[in-house]
Amino acid sequence: MNQARVQAMKKLIAGNWKMNGNGDTAEAFDNDMEEVLNKYSHVEWLICPPFPYIASLSNLQRGAQDCSAYDRGAYTGEVSAAMLADMGCTYCIVGHSERRTLHMEDNKLVRNKVKQLLSHNIRPIICVGETLEEREAGQAYEVVSRQILESLSDNITSENAVLAYEPVWAIGTGKAATLCDVTKMHGMIRDLLKSSLATAAKMRILYGGSVKPSNAAELLNADNVDGALIGSASLLHEDFIAIGKAVEI
Ligand code: 13P
Repeated sequence: MNQARVQAMKKLIAGNWKMNGNGDTAEAFDNDMEEVLNKYSHVEWLICPPFPYIASLSNLQRGAQDCSAYDRGAYTGEVSAAMLADMGCTYCIVGHSERRTLHMEDNKLVRNKVKQLLSHNIRPIICVGETLEEREAGQAYEVVSRQILESLSDNITSENAVLAYEPVWAIGTGKAATLCDVTKMHGMIRDLLKSSLATAAKMRILYGGSVKPSNAAELLNADNVDGALIGSASLLHEDFIAIGKAVEI
């Protein structure tokens, strides 16, 4: 079996530091993880720090939180997929709800970012998820399936990309989705991938939204939950490690 496939079968424990930390905290975190990475290699570990601190990670796998939809040129403030590849990034988050809301990012833009990343062999972590209003209106599945179908590019496979289901109402609220909500949505996403995107039928589906050590075992060992995208609990290495350790071997 090739390396990409072996890796894609492990659960992905990914930290999204958002706009937190500094060079010293990033380096200390990376040092504290060194032993853990060898000891708990039944999961795949990843940290996505702010751009300036990506290079502070030398033990941990490097990821980014966003990238440009363009190749190069007059795009002040943007960072291209080629530059991320140059920095040693293997993954990049795209379409996070904070970017969809605060920066008006839509599915078309996310899809263009996905294309850029794939052309530089970086795996996109494509975030999808409904708002509370959409859930209460009974539209959660419709919203999520549209985001998936419109954000994924044609050359997606089970190995070269990852999906992250992050219900907006569970992000940063301390209130994770229930096990029932998560397994239901992940099951529906799996069925959608099988029926509409056969090459990506086995793509990993992460759950994100208030994942913490106390709920990690329940969420991470559920059907069709192939890892977690963790915000605030990824800032403390003890919590991040405890979440990864909760994955059953
Ligand atoms: P929290 O884990 O802080 O809820 O954040 C989740 C998230 O947005 C990860 O991308």
